Amino acid sequence: MDIPRIFNVTESAHRIHNPFTPDKLATLGAALRLEPGTRVLDLGSGSGEMLCTWARDYDIIGTGVDMSRLFSDQAKRRAEELGVADRVEFIHGDAAGYVADEKVGVAACVGATWIGGGVAGTIALLTKSLSSNGIILIGEPYWRQLPPTEDVAKGCGARSISDFLLLPELVASFDNLNLDLVEMVLANQDGWDRYEAAKWLTMRRWLEENPDDDFAKEIRERLTSEPRRHVAYTREYLGWGVFALMAR
Ligand SMILES: C[S@@+](CC[C@H](N)C(=O)[O-])C[C@H]1O[C@@H](n2cnc3c(N)ncnc32)[C@H](O)[C@@H]1O
Repeated sequence: MDIPRIFNVTESAHRIHNPFTPDKLATLGAALRLEPGTRVLDLGSGSGEMLCTWARDYDIIGTGVDMSRLFSDQAKRRAEELGVADRVEFIHGDAAGYVADEKVGVAACVGATWIGGGVAGTIALLTKSLSSNGIILIGEPYWRQLPPTEDVAKGCGARSISDFLLLPELVASFDNLNLDLVEMVLANQDGWDRYEAAKWLTMRRWLEENPDDDFAKEIRERLTSEPRRHVAYTREYLGWGVFALMAR
């Protein structure tokens, strides 16, 4: 079981697999006023940077579930590196339908809401693991500006304009689910550059090391086209944020 190989190649050097920079992740942790011992569940935990740094900084107890074998192994190594391996565990597996044995104070899905079939479905899934008055964290893209055409939306990696909402609409959608938005931290264009541009050097190095790999042609094409795609589309049109929600 694994995610498509392209992500394991292009994001192999990422610690954070979204447009958040380390300072944004730290800002979010501080904004949540986490008490020591708080249990945090993270579905689609990537390389574990959120749980590992919050375990180090706030003494939380974390469980992460991720379908990438590579990212899950990197998360375990990061936990050892930061001296928090006794407080965080990383499970390699499909997080769809995953419910924690013990209720958690924070249940998160940061940049992987397809796991629950969209934002509303993921909130419903996370709620099953959440203690009363717990906080749900949803990391999700939104349109900074509405794409003028469907082709522009596709250039941003969306299937269609309707995949994402404008920020006021996304915030209203939480209201419609009877949730209070109690905190939010938004990424910016520099953060998008860290997420996207970091893939380019990784791809370049990978090509140097794997010139005869079956995947080399695809990686070569991506390395050529991705910088122009990013600056024309994602960087201009897509926003991204983490939204902290509590049931009313
Ligand atoms: C955009 S990344 C975000 C990772 C992490 N939350 C972060 O911010 O660094 C999406 C993650 O979801 C994971 N993923 C995709 N489908 C999954 C599934 N069905 N179950 C668990 N993890 C999944 C990928 O391996 C990847 O780590």
